[in-house]
Amino acid sequence: MYKTHTCGELHPTHISQTVTLAGWVHRRRDHGGVIFVDLRDRFGITQIVIDPVEIPAAQDVRNEWVLQVSGEVRPRPDGANNPNLPTGEIEVQVHQFKVLNQAKPLPFPINKDEDVDENIRLRYRYLDLRRERMRNNLTLRHRVIKFIRDYLDKHGFLEVETPILFKTTPEGARDYLVPSRVHPGQFYALPQSPQQLKQLLMVSGVERYFQIARCFRDEDQRGDRQPEFTQLDLEMSFIDQEEIMKLIEEMFTEMVAEVVPEKRLLASPWPRLTYQRAMERFGKDNPDLRFGLELVDITDLAPQSGFKVFQDAAASGGHVRGINAIGLGEYSRKQIDELTETVKQFGARGLAYLAITYSGEQRSSFVKFLSEDALQALLERMQARPGDLLLFVADKPAVVFEALGRLRVLLGDLLGLADPYALAFCWVVDFPYMVWSEEEKRWDPSHHLFTAPMPEDVALLDTDPGKARGQQYDLVLNNYEVGGGSIRIHDRILQEKVFKLIGLDPEVARERFGHILEAFEYGVPPHGGIAPGIDRICMILSGEPNIREVIAFPKNQAARDVMADAPSVVESKQLEELHIRVVEE
Ligand code: AMO
Ligand code: AMP
Repeated sequence: MYKTHTCGELHPTHISQTVTLAGWVHRRRDHGGVIFVDLRDRFGITQIVIDPVEIPAAQDVRNEWVLQVSGEVRPRPDGANNPNLPTGEIEVQVHQFKVLNQAKPLPFPINKDEDVDENIRLRYRYLDLRRERMRNNLTLRHRVIKFIRDYLDKHGFLEVETPILFKTTPEGARDYLVPSRVHPGQFYALPQSPQQLKQLLMVSGVERYFQIARCFRDEDQRGDRQPEFTQLDLEMSFIDQEEIMKLIEEMFTEMVAEVVPEKRLLASPWPRLTYQRAMERFGKDNPDLRFGLELVDITDLAPQSGFKVFQDAAASGGHVRGINAIGLGEYSRKQIDELTETVKQFGARGLAYLAITYSGEQRSSFVKFLSEDALQALLERMQARPGDLLLFVADKPAVVFEALGRLRVLLGDLLGLADPYALAFCWVVDFPYMVWSEEEKRWDPSHHLFTAPMPEDVALLDTDPGKARGQQYDLVLNNYEVGGGSIRIHDRILQEKVFKLIGLDPEVARERFGHILEAFEYGVPPHGGIAPGIDRICMILSGEPNIREVIAFPKNQAARDVMADAPSVVESKQLEELHIRVVEE
């Protein structure tokens, strides 16, 4: 037996027992005549004490060597207890000692929480995962998934695995394709989600399905995106939107209490916002509800303001909206210029400001154009007080929302308003069913092809598709979209109509989705579902800044695995077998 106990479990009750431990040298200290080693395994750290006269080999030991030791548990001497360590009241006096393996000098320390270049961490991910922070993240992720499995099992769900080698399952990204050796010139597509398969499982009568599902999307990388990621994919039959939302709300509420009890849920029941209200109040459809700083519409005050930038925007159908950055009224010109540069990066043409110091003095880029009445109306609308900084953007609505939505998040950070211990879940509903793609000159589904329109808006698909709303609901947590779902179309005629609306040639639709259309002719129950993103949820619960930190072996921001060096060139024989010729750029 390699160990009788883990390195995390010895207590004063074990005193006088002889134990065997095995693990890594976390840290060693030589105190003339005695060697102290913090021995680490996944479960904790135990201090072991070695007499170098009795065991001379212990003098060679270096960090991260793998040891097996046996000895007697004894209390630490007076004053030597370590209250930060669960095993801090005891130590093990070693009598038998064996080096199981040595380690080279490390590319970065394991025993300190130091900032290390991310590419080096990813290159040596197996070492990075030894660090406490990463071990905690892996553990949290395990708990989250375990909780979900148990919870859904209790609620009558069946976990079903669906294929990875499949056919295009579009969610708005590009597909990863896998060439077939036995069918020259033909490809599987990796699923962007198990969307079609879970709907087919509803046709099969599974009724309550879930899967911890790997999804693949070839899209631009960001901190909250990976080419492959994990969803809690879920689907139910004979269900409505309310019931799905309720299930998810109850599940996550219980999960937070059990898995991250130190965190605080901000509101119960979770707030619900229509897409329209989310945009108007927060400038984005995944708002951070941990703080205020809401957008204020002043478009109606623009025509009589006397300020041409505002007047022109309003006259051309644009909006003028502002944010009251409470407490930044003493910001310097330079600091305001920096904010202006930032919103320009977000697409705005400028940032009009009015700063009011605590003594009431006003500085502004535009107030000189305003009459006394117009100024008063503006101050009142913005609920301005001494110490406030009012910031405005005038432009097309989409630009105003984008710029102020992102500015609001930045201001929340600058003002320290986003409490890292708070979890502000909310639902965003009543999304537009279709969005017009100027680039492609066609309607794109705002969720996906299989989402049902609101029953009362079906007629609009023929007359004014842009006005129709979908039976879609997004789950939002602290500034991130952490889940999306919908009630599905379960009527072949309507499904074909939607294919047509988005410009999918009937022949192509049949070729790509014929199996679904056909299945819909054999008694398909009404159904709907949702897919919360496990990586994003774990990122937020662990307080990490990006999802790579909660994935054991992630790709870097260039979508590469820098540890194994993938993607990589393959042998020409393999390419030949796959009937593939690489075109040199
Ligand atoms: P959707 O495309 O909205 O819906 O995805 C659901 C959730 O998956 C997560 N997510 C991602 N996480 C990490 N990296 C990515 N590249 C990535 N893309 C998406 C997000 C997102 O909210 N089939 C539908 C669900 C349904 O209708 O039931 C779907 O996939 O947290
Ligand atoms: P200008 O008239 O360009 O000197 O701009 C006067 C002020 O209005 C400056 O503070 C600009 O940053 C700001 N500004 C210019 N264009 C816009 C706009 N579209 N929205 C909001 N502020 C703007």
